[in-house]
Amino acid sequence: MISLGIIGTNWITEQFVRATDITKTFALTHVYSRTEAKAESFIEDLEKENIKISTDLDAFFKEDFDTVYIASPNALHFSQAQKALENGKNVIVEKPSTSTIQEFTILEKLAHEKGLYLFEAARHIHEPIFKKIEEVVEKHRDDLSGATFSYMKYSSRYDAYQAGKNPNVFTTKFSGGALYDLGVYTVYDAVVLFGQPEKVDYDAEFLDSGVDGSGALTLKYSNFDVNIIIGKTKNSYMSSEVYFGRDTLLLDNGGDINHLDWADDNKNITDIPTTKSENPMDSEAREFARIMTENDHASYDKLLQYARTVNRILEQARTSAGIVFDADEEK
Ligand SMILES: NC(=O)c1ccc[n+]([C@@H]2O[C@H](COP(=O)([O-])OP(=O)(O)OC[C@H]3O[C@@H](n4cnc5c(N)ncnc54)[C@H](OP(=O)(O)O)[C@@H]3O)[C@@H](O)[C@H]2O)c1
Repeated sequence: MISLGIIGTNWITEQFVRATDITKTFALTHVYSRTEAKAESFIEDLEKENIKISTDLDAFFKEDFDTVYIASPNALHFSQAQKALENGKNVIVEKPSTSTIQEFTILEKLAHEKGLYLFEAARHIHEPIFKKIEEVVEKHRDDLSGATFSYMKYSSRYDAYQAGKNPNVFTTKFSGGALYDLGVYTVYDAVVLFGQPEKVDYDAEFLDSGVDGSGALTLKYSNFDVNIIIGKTKNSYMSSEVYFGRDTLLLDNGGDINHLDWADDNKNITDIPTTKSENPMDSEAREFARIMTENDHASYDKLLQYARTVNRILEQARTSAGIVFDADEEK
């Protein structure tokens, strides 16, 4: 198993560590937290023993482990990943890995120079249900005529935002907002299924904090458009769809995909059988470990290309909407 250090002690890190346990891919050895008490409680919840705790990031990266999983607020990913790579660690960083394409380019170059891996944890594209979507799209590619993806979920942190508590995900300081938090999944959908668009346009509904609470994103391809609806301030139950002229592939959601159907011209709807793992991070843990142990550079380069394209689109989209992050001023 590959030794693992983690940054961030929220539920998502726990879910990732549980996925590495189930898949027997990475073994947690080191935890970084700003506070010892949080690190201890995190380790206790996972019922782990002999885990080393650091509250100093430099000291953490001097420790002996192979790979770091970073699940801190978005704006911290870049400096933490950079420091990890400089200290010889492979990096798995939560989506989106950076606030700007310039940051992504720096990380990519550094990983390459050091001979290390840099993975963006876009969990859903590794799941069997997404592989099925790719298979269906490939089979009908000649008829491909566009898509609509929707991922709009009322965030419990929006209550905190409205109560004036300033949660990280609703701040420009931490590169938050609907596009960077949920939109990133749907941009991945488009990039993996259709490649790089020719034009990107985002129309955002702004919150007073300066981030987008929701919005509509259009990705223009040479023969069709992809329309994307995202939000963190309201709930949508719209299905997502990929169009093939008369026929339609239906996804129950654009990011958290649990069910697929095929609809024909006569409104006959047929279930497409797929499998879904209980822990949605199993598949990515397995794939990252496989790539590392087999040195599968073809698969790695493909993932890196997706991540580069997605991070570029995210920046183009928010620039088109006029969303400015604190990270832009640090350029
Ligand atoms: N793949 C998925 O399904 C999924 C789901 C949810 C989130 N995510 C991603 O995971 C990342 C973390 O999201 P989250 O909602 O867990 O974020 P968060 O709650 O704001 O912060 C995550 C962790 O970062 C540390 N942290 C919080 N505020 C900080 C600050 N001001 N300075 C330094 N460290 C701070 C905390 O750990 P300590 O207190 O221990 O230092 C905290 O547990 C994001 O990039 C998000 O996009 C992915």
